[in-house]
Amino acid sequence: MKKIVIAIDGPAGSGKSSSAKIVAERLGYIYIDTGAMYRAVTLEALRRGIAENEAEICKILDEINIELRTSPQGQRTILNGEDVSDDIRLPGVTRLVSPVSAIGCVREKLVAEQRRIGERGGIVMDGRDIGTVVFPNAELKIYLVASIEARTERRAKELRAKGIRVEIEEIKKQIIERDNYDSSRAISPLRKAEDAILIDTSEMTLEQQSELIIELANKIINL
Ligand code: CDP
Ligand code: CDP
Repeated sequence: MKKIVIAIDGPAGSGKSSSAKIVAERLGYIYIDTGAMYRAVTLEALRRGIAENEAEICKILDEINIELRTSPQGQRTILNGEDVSDDIRLPGVTRLVSPVSAIGCVREKLVAEQRRIGERGGIVMDGRDIGTVVFPNAELKIYLVASIEARTERRAKELRAKGIRVEIEEIKKQIIERDNYDSSRAISPLRKAEDAILIDTSEMTLEQQSELIIELANKIINL
């Protein structure tokens, strides 16, 4: 059976990673969370105290090795041999990940790795530039959007579940700031590829959204 590339892009909280995971599982594909790779570089830069120094980040890039491993607990992110899956979600990383991701040398390195991982197909990759830059020839491109209210509520719910006290207005502000940063950067900004299918998930459940993507994928796979 044909093994295709499914590219899922969109702003924060639109449901990319959770649906990409489900779609990959049901199709027997590999799921690649490219945001985790940008977060791992940001974490390493923070640990070295150079997160706001572009030149220094470019200098140490060769010393950063990122692996994405599938485990029963979901995808794990391994940074130079250490499992950093929890640390890359810390607020300090979230605050700086957009500026670090806007740096040319960082994108060059990670895009090359993403292309290598996905070259044989059978993958669902989510991020900001998968359909536009990483795999412009992906057989299926999805661009997810949702209202800022829905996205804020989803993030708040996730944080509450982790026992973190949340300020709705603060979460909303942070999401808007990150979307603006990601959409306006010079290199590979967040935007919909012309041939991507737009899905507004504001009123959809995760199951409905995943089912829709699987249906679209099956049409192509069974062609
Ligand atoms: O928090 P959320 O799941 O929405 O974000 P993420 O997918 O973990 O991505 C974190 C950040 O990494 C984004 O805000 C972008 O700045 C950057 N990113 C990127 O530039 N390109 C990608 N392909 C994926 C993520
Ligand atoms: O990866 P991205 O930032 O686009 O979003 P996500 O991490 O997949 O989704 C953020 C949260 O929204 C997760 O807790 C999902 O379970 C939830 N979600 C939802 O409630 N309804 C949807 N239709 C999609 C996602």
